[in-house]
Amino acid sequence: MSEAPRQPLPVVVLISGSGSNLQAFIDGQARGELPIDIRAVISNRADAYGLERARAAGIPGEVLSHRGFDDRASYDRALAEVIDRHEPGLVILAGFMRILSDAFVTHYLGRLINIHPSLLPDFRGLHTHERALESAVQVHGCSVHFVIPELDAGPLIVQAEVPVWPDDTPETLARRVQIQEHRIYPLAVRWLAEGRVCMREGRTWMDGRPLEQTPRITADTRVETL
Ligand code: GAR
Repeated sequence: MSEAPRQPLPVVVLISGSGSNLQAFIDGQARGELPIDIRAVISNRADAYGLERARAAGIPGEVLSHRGFDDRASYDRALAEVIDRHEPGLVILAGFMRILSDAFVTHYLGRLINIHPSLLPDFRGLHTHERALESAVQVHGCSVHFVIPELDAGPLIVQAEVPVWPDDTPETLARRVQIQEHRIYPLAVRWLAEGRVCMREGRTWMDGRPLEQTPRITADTRVETL
């Protein structure tokens, strides 16, 4: 007897800005490479360009501004209410530039992921490209990870590395890193949607085993075969 085909994984994507990673999900889904159903895109900023991208793809967009809320906890409670209306199996932070309360993160533990523009654990926090250049590292990159209460410290799922060139500026480096973000973020989401990756006991599991070493891709890696 053949297995019933897996239902697309319902996801909600949170953004604050351009939404180029959101676009990578929309494109991957349109090409039939990503078994997900993007139920909604939620932004804390009304002017986020990603909302335009959602509209163009026929995905419901919602704005929940953080202004007017007394504190982080009350905003996060309202945000969770909006998210949960869509019953997502996965909540994707794609350039959502807010620190999340412990209660919010705990509510979604194991089904909340983020992309961060550095090779974690290096350069947690902001201004990662500037800091990579100041530190004169030769290799920089990006990381997809499960979100835990500690900032940028959750179990890693996949990373991509890029070389740093002597004449790089934060902008040139950011562009090179983003090209890789648009490869590894859909890859990680595909693994989750296929049930290959999950978080268990505070670790990333892949194909039924705790991950010993985070998969790391380079510009040459053929991600479609992973
Ligand atoms: C991405 O480069 C992502 O790595 C970064 O925001 C950008 C969003 O771009 N996220 C963080 O810095 C999280 N701390 P996008 O809106 O074009 O996807």
